[in-house]
Amino acid sequence: MIAKLLSNAVFLRGSIDERLFSSFLEHMGRVIYTGVYEPDHATADADGFRGDVLQAVRQMGVTAVRYPGGNFVSNYHWQDGVGPVTQRPRRIELAWRSVETNAFGLNEFMRWAAKSLTQPILTVNLGTQGIENALSLLEYCNHDQGTLYSDLRRSHGVEKPYHVHTWCLGNEMDGFWQVGHKTAQEYGRIAAETGRAMKRLDPSIELVACGSSKSDMATCPAWDLEVLEHVYGTADYLALHQYYGGQEMGTASFLAQSLDMEGYIDTIRAAINVIRKKARSQATMYISLDEWGVWSRPEHSIGRAFEQKPWSLAPVIDEQAYTLEDTLLFASMMLAMLKHTDIVKIACQALLTNISACIMTKPDGSIWLQPIYYVFMMIAQHAKGHVLRTAEIAMPQYACDAFPSVPVLDHVETLREDGAEVVIFAVNRSETETLSLQWQLEHIRPVRIEAFTVLTAREKSITNRSHPEAIRPCPGQGARLEGASCLAEIPPFSFIMIRISLQQ
Ligand code: AHR
Repeated sequence: MIAKLLSNAVFLRGSIDERLFSSFLEHMGRVIYTGVYEPDHATADADGFRGDVLQAVRQMGVTAVRYPGGNFVSNYHWQDGVGPVTQRPRRIELAWRSVETNAFGLNEFMRWAAKSLTQPILTVNLGTQGIENALSLLEYCNHDQGTLYSDLRRSHGVEKPYHVHTWCLGNEMDGFWQVGHKTAQEYGRIAAETGRAMKRLDPSIELVACGSSKSDMATCPAWDLEVLEHVYGTADYLALHQYYGGQEMGTASFLAQSLDMEGYIDTIRAAINVIRKKARSQATMYISLDEWGVWSRPEHSIGRAFEQKPWSLAPVIDEQAYTLEDTLLFASMMLAMLKHTDIVKIACQALLTNISACIMTKPDGSIWLQPIYYVFMMIAQHAKGHVLRTAEIAMPQYACDAFPSVPVLDHVETLREDGAEVVIFAVNRSETETLSLQWQLEHIRPVRIEAFTVLTAREKSITNRSHPEAIRPCPGQGARLEGASCLAEIPPFSFIMIRISLQQ
């Protein structure tokens, strides 16, 4: 099979916002406790943060982290998590039916974010709380001094305001599972009023309103249209969430789900455009995919939410291990976002540790890295600058139940801002066939292939939990330049990256 591509340096899809490489920490299961925070761990620092995890996060290239939820935020009192730790209350936590000790709270997260070299993205509670709670939190974080909550922060030892820039107005408020679930009208009103008040307090912030929490919600896109009517001109982003499972459909259909994600983004783009016109607004709204990921086969997951003993501390919930098949869909989801880089500006891989995660931790033990960790790292480190608008001159296709035509090679090409490097990231969706890539470059003068990296595995069903480091990036064979073309053999069922340095 042959895939022929043509990239031209002047045909651009858009520039890449580095916040596309964000992640997510929620008080859920072992994400925080024994995930990033474990004061008795051998690698823990003075703040109780696991040093092994911090190092892995920095290496992964995560740029921003959303916190503290997720469903958790919808019944969270932020003031429980600040001030002297010994005086913090233990609370019933309804989203995951756990007990929250509040040993880790806002100031711990902000210190952790600084140490992990990531920007914070905070979510306010619009489930059980409202405008006043969002304002007090914003004042605590961003106001300098001389007022109730700014001075409370200072009394907690944080003299300078944090100036948190990005704020999410609640979480998945379209979902019946959400504590304080609302209709689109109810949510649209509270989100708009909360957002307006927050921007009065700090006009420099940007706001993210809740869109649909998955593409197959019965209310999508009616929810999005109605919420947009309320928040257009106040919010800067509409949040989409998307997780895919469905391995039982078979590999062809499973991997094709990234096309659903592309359609989802296109639908919401259209909704934004319709409401902009209706509102006669000049304001631009973008999309934040502020939770996304793959859900593994149940047999590769340890611990089920709601089957756990209720009211326990940091229970094991949904600790999944990813196969190569899962990893290729994860890669295609990242490529789908890059293809829509002109409208998707923030994307938070969910979650960072232990639940549908890149980094797995053993309490009192070591960490291990999922194959999705490597995909995220390769793309975050090397997808810089612009996404190119590449033409498919020849592309083999396959059909599956949901999609009549699925390209066998899923691909994205990027050009660094300084024009020094062009990169192709690609997934070969075929389980059996090597794909011969013929990639022609126009107005781009290649010098050398700097790296050809391949992520694949001997067997489809192994995971890095069952076979440590079985799925990891390795040098590929046989990529070469011929004039202005790059030729490469892309192994079946693989994710690849080719980096080419350019003459300037
Ligand atoms: O698995 C994380 C959870 O998934 C988040 O709390 C929620 O927002 C989503 O449904």
